[in-house]
Amino acid sequence: MVLGARDHDRTAGVSIAGERELETAIAVAREAGALLKENFGKVHTVGYKGRIDLVTEMDRRSEALIVERLKSAFPEDDVLAEEGSGTERGRERRWIVDPLDGTTNYAHGVPIYCVSIALEIGGRVALGVVYDPHRDECFVAERGRGATLDGAPLRVSATATLGESLLSTGYQYDIRSSSRNNLAEHAALLLRSHSVREIGSAVLNLAYVAAGRLEAFWELSLGAWDVAAGALLVEEAGGRVSSPDGGALDLAAPSIVASNGVIHEEILKVLQEVRAR
Ligand code: 2AM
Ligand code: CA
Repeated sequence: MVLGARDHDRTAGVSIAGERELETAIAVAREAGALLKENFGKVHTVGYKGRIDLVTEMDRRSEALIVERLKSAFPEDDVLAEEGSGTERGRERRWIVDPLDGTTNYAHGVPIYCVSIALEIGGRVALGVVYDPHRDECFVAERGRGATLDGAPLRVSATATLGESLLSTGYQYDIRSSSRNNLAEHAALLLRSHSVREIGSAVLNLAYVAAGRLEAFWELSLGAWDVAAGALLVEEAGGRVSSPDGGALDLAAPSIVASNGVIHEEILKVLQEVRAR
């Protein structure tokens, strides 16, 4: 038997995805992204309680497409998807899907949103694909094999200090009732960094850290689908991902700091100072 490079990695104990998984994830993310883009800007009414119907409909339509394609290509695998149409049976392999990240932007006609698909094998994310249909940018990460944007290798930024860094953050939907609402953290980091953006898509923020466009991103309360692919992108582009206390990222209840690595400790220190007040 002739072993391919991937088989060698597997024998070395690294959980990595195969070529078919990679190709399927990219094709499906592009297909779902095209569906979202086709319907973008078609609704002008925005509801203020929860998510509006059309957005829920587009979240669901994108998810239905992705879940159907993944289940037919890999019937043995589990699927965790944001709108709940996945199936989890405790299998070794689990696809983690955000069918539309940046829902609020999408509803308002702001073209900053994307599709995120990750494959977890044995509890570790092995593959991540993020597709931005508006810029036609496809970010791909494979564990141990690096990260790319439209095929070109990605590297986090080399910026050495927090003071020179452009950061990004986001807010959970329950900000009005949550005691840990990220406002004090945002203020503290805004005063210590170059600036802080709030672009409305956790997934794209992570992809942009991987691409060196942002030095770091943090957010306190997210879902596994918001971070699974993006965190792998950051790690494979040479950055660092942790929880705000510096421990490992918990995919079950993600609170995340992702950075170029160099400024990571500085950010953790500021977050810890805020928490100690
Ligand atoms: P969404 O667009 O798929 O809803 C905004 O801060 C970012 O965080 C978006 O990526 C948004 O994802 C996500 N987000 C906001 N509140 C969330 C929550 N309560 N659970 C999971 N993700 C959330
Ligand atoms: Ca999301």
